[in-house]
Amino acid sequence: MQTDDKQRGFWASRLGFILAASGSAVGLGNIWKFPYITGENGGGAFVLIYLVCICVVGLPIMLCEFTIGRRTHLNPVGAFNALKPGTPWVAVGYMGVLAGFLILSFYGVVGGWTLAYVVKSLTHVVDHFASSAEAGAFFGAFIANTGEILMYHTIFMMLCMAIVIKGVHGGIERACDILMPTLVIMLMLLMIRSLTLPGAIEGVKFYLYPDFSKISGQTVLLAMGQAFFSLSLGMGCLITYGSYLSSKENLTSCTLYVVMFDTFIALLVGMVIFPAVFAMGLEPESGPSLVFNVLPAVFSSMPFGTVVSVIFFALLAIAAFTSAISLLESVSAYFIDQKGWPRNKAVITTGIIIYLFGIPSGLSFGLMKDVTFFGMTFFDLVDTISSNYLLPLGGMLTAIFVGWIWGTKEAHREIERHETTFHWARYWEFALKYISPVAVAIVFITHFIPAD
Ligand code: PHE
Repeated sequence: MQTDDKQRGFWASRLGFILAASGSAVGLGNIWKFPYITGENGGGAFVLIYLVCICVVGLPIMLCEFTIGRRTHLNPVGAFNALKPGTPWVAVGYMGVLAGFLILSFYGVVGGWTLAYVVKSLTHVVDHFASSAEAGAFFGAFIANTGEILMYHTIFMMLCMAIVIKGVHGGIERACDILMPTLVIMLMLLMIRSLTLPGAIEGVKFYLYPDFSKISGQTVLLAMGQAFFSLSLGMGCLITYGSYLSSKENLTSCTLYVVMFDTFIALLVGMVIFPAVFAMGLEPESGPSLVFNVLPAVFSSMPFGTVVSVIFFALLAIAAFTSAISLLESVSAYFIDQKGWPRNKAVITTGIIIYLFGIPSGLSFGLMKDVTFFGMTFFDLVDTISSNYLLPLGGMLTAIFVGWIWGTKEAHREIERHETTFHWARYWEFALKYISPVAVAIVFITHFIPAD
């Protein structure tokens, strides 16, 4: 069932679309995950491999998602159904909606942490740590505090609903038009601060000098998984965003801009974090705790550390927020298009259910830290199912669908509707038909086989 434009929505400008899609892509994946995975996996060498993954898997699949969306002007379920009616391919759409639901449920919790750290930076609570162990102990106590976690999680999800309810143009596009440039400016300021610290050059060397001895098969797989998560691929989020795009726009250049934006931000974040960590004599290999444990210790000991801390966590909160709204939009779009619900009802209902489902994830570091499923906390379980299984599977199936089922010819026709600038069409077809499905299949399979 197709609803009118007012319920569905549209992007008012090409720039608005690019900023919103970049807002979806740039998130915790870039600012939190990318630096720590790079730190653990040989710095520059990992960065190189990541860039190859972006080109051979990320770029071709992103163009597919935008194309499916723009062709059908529907959410993922409606889109697969419209292109191949009555076939099991619609399941890929349902999987996407489910993945969006699951990812947002724990993403909202971490979004809450980022908001809390903005407040704690502003109120000078997190700017006087003597060591990263001290900062870590503080963080550990914070995420175990039920009341605080619930409060920030609630605020974060309410803010998301408030924006998405206002619609694609009036809410999401407007918010991203302001937030994305703000994010870039903040990042530039932070980079200047970080690079001018004495000793910063060591961090730059670590970041840019490739240490190939640390590269293994596992590293390549990590890089590919990261490319997926970071570009928001494999769950139909970008099908949904593409569905609000007018047929006049050039799909190939939009795809290139979004991919470049996301990659550029991830690379810049590395240029902020590593110089600062090295200048302050801390370890770049500390893993997931890098952002919440090591950085507050770095900020505590640097000149203008409080201001830097406020800017950094605000940056993290903005990045998380623009990704979270894309997740909420793609789940809501299913109910708006397929069930004919008014936007208000769709956003409020899905937002509240996702929020409630996220609460056990929020409690996974405190009250529920001993409740495990297959040896994982609720938070880790939901993260693993969605990021490690649903995204790669969805991405692989999307590549197969466009490459072999719907067909690159049909897709090509949609891409070239108003343009004759698709210079990399042959590369795209080849990558899509052969490289992406095989590469993603390998990632997917290795996720089933525990690393150690
Ligand atoms: N790309 C986002 C990030 O880097 C996460 C995300 C995944 C958002 C899938 C939407 C869909 O954090």
